[in-house]
Amino acid sequence: MSSAAPVIETSLSELKLVRRGKVRDVYAIDDDRLLIAATDRISAFDCILPTAIERKGAVLTAISEFWFAKLAHIVPNHLITTRIAEMPEVVQGHTAELRGRSMLVRRTDVFPVECVVRGYITGSGWKDYRRTGEVCGHKLPNGLRESEKLVEPIFTPATKAETGHDENISEQTMAGIVGDEVTSLLRDISLQIYREASDYARERGIIIADTKFEFGRDRHGQIMLIDEVLTPDSSRFWPADSYEVGRGQASFDKQYVRDYLETLDWNKQPPAPELPPEVARATTARYLEAYELLVGSPLTAQ
Ligand SMILES: Nc1ncnc2c1ncn2[C@@H]1O[C@H](COP(=O)(O)OP(=O)(O)OP(=O)(O)O)[C@@H](O)[C@H]1O
Ligand SMILES: [Mg+2]
Repeated sequence: MSSAAPVIETSLSELKLVRRGKVRDVYAIDDDRLLIAATDRISAFDCILPTAIERKGAVLTAISEFWFAKLAHIVPNHLITTRIAEMPEVVQGHTAELRGRSMLVRRTDVFPVECVVRGYITGSGWKDYRRTGEVCGHKLPNGLRESEKLVEPIFTPATKAETGHDENISEQTMAGIVGDEVTSLLRDISLQIYREASDYARERGIIIADTKFEFGRDRHGQIMLIDEVLTPDSSRFWPADSYEVGRGQASFDKQYVRDYLETLDWNKQPPAPELPPEVARATTARYLEAYELLVGSPLTAQ
């Protein structure tokens, strides 16, 4: 079957839209369930671009589904199904738009912290380290170079900012928000998932430099892994074959987009410019490649 048309925005008028993020549209099904539709939107420099990246939503959904299954022995997760045929009838009226890109999930109260794990020093961690020698209260050895692998991965939580950038916080600050017990539980689970997933990915040519998990608690008190997991959007994926310490690394997925945008004299404020078709196509190819490397077979069109 040929792949479905790209989707920049879903509109399911019968359902209540709970949130439209940079990439995902979230709808309420009922008190217990949400529908999360990953669109083909792409953002760069914090702006949503007007150009769709064909199959991106499907790749993000399939990668998350892959990890949920693989990591289920560590922690329960929110995924009920990705199959439209198993979803409520109201969703089935929108099969063409939603197929391959949607997850029916258990609705939770989200813990208001981003559970970040870093195995390499980069991004805001690198900035904090250069300024203070620490990241989120972890004192790191002197003389680390940009993108260097840490001896042990570290848990570096952040607040979930409604607007603007998330702020890195210490574990102690996190404990002030969600309590000591939840903090150590989420830390231990996050580190365990990162260790297992990053070892797995590394053998397949992808370095997962860092990643962000979200957790929630359902009505029965069950704590579970939610949101998307270990995708190129929630993590920094670096191609292992071009990794080199002492400099910033090319992003696995957004490299062509950023490189192209840097050639323009766009001020990085909305509205963002269109991408040329060849840049969009090359980006689709990168997302598909990430899936194939991780899962071991190409993503089939649904
Ligand atoms: N099982 C769940 N229960 C409740 N909320 C969830 C669940 N899974 C994911 N969410 C929430 O759904 C939203 C997903 O939307 P999305 O990722 O597009 O937005 P965002 O992360 O807030 O913003 P952006 O991605 O634009 O930076 C997040 O706010 C996430 O916390
Ligand atoms: Mg998100």
